[in-house]
Amino acid sequence: MTIQGQKDLDGLRESGKVVAETLETMKAALREGMTTRELDLIGAAVLKRHGAHSAPSKLYRFPGTTCISVNEEAAHGIPGDRVIRKGDLINIDVSAELNGYYADTGFSVPFGMEKGELVDLCLCSHRALKNALGAARAGVKINRVGEVVEQTARAAGFSVIRNLAGHGIGRKLHEDPSILSWKDPRERGRLHKGMALAVETFVSTGGEFAVENGDGWTLVADDGGFVAQYEHTIVVTEGEPLVMTRL
Ligand code: CO
Ligand code: CO
Repeated sequence: MTIQGQKDLDGLRESGKVVAETLETMKAALREGMTTRELDLIGAAVLKRHGAHSAPSKLYRFPGTTCISVNEEAAHGIPGDRVIRKGDLINIDVSAELNGYYADTGFSVPFGMEKGELVDLCLCSHRALKNALGAARAGVKINRVGEVVEQTARAAGFSVIRNLAGHGIGRKLHEDPSILSWKDPRERGRLHKGMALAVETFVSTGGEFAVENGDGWTLVADDGGFVAQYEHTIVVTEGEPLVMTRL
């Protein structure tokens, strides 16, 4: 979506605030011994209170309100009986629709860990998002965003998942263009002012592709390693982007 006026900006911002609050509430509620289903229900209550609808459930009949991916699960993990333990890498991704506007945000948490490879992986993927947002301004090539993500990952000795991507967003959850975590030379487009994007970083310990694990939803890295993802919904400007999914 390209923002056409104040109504679009306000609509996206409202939706963005709700998914951000949902994600923050879930992060604050994380406890050792809880199941991913319990965590998902906490998120579902926040969306409901605001009259927002889970995008994956509404659009794809995903069997949960939010995607919760633990350890070897790279993305689209189904909330269920899995018990959260200290030392788990947990990714929570929240996308929802409010008043016809979609917003999407996600982050990874090295739960109960202070150092080690998973902490480094998360710090790197978080830094990659910050760098990508810093690069995302009007006039810049779309593939520059992915180039920045990959450069940030490689500089820390990590890899990127090539077949998962950020995306245009707004009136739909997934719109053109795809925003990869690497530089696709075939992508010739440029960012323009008012473009609404969900920028996400898929930084891995070595895997390059995500493959479905057989349950119809959950994606895992092809090498059995770990993936850390961070995501914000933004609006492109001539300077720093406007981040819609920040409280
Ligand atoms: Co997402
Ligand atoms: Co997304």
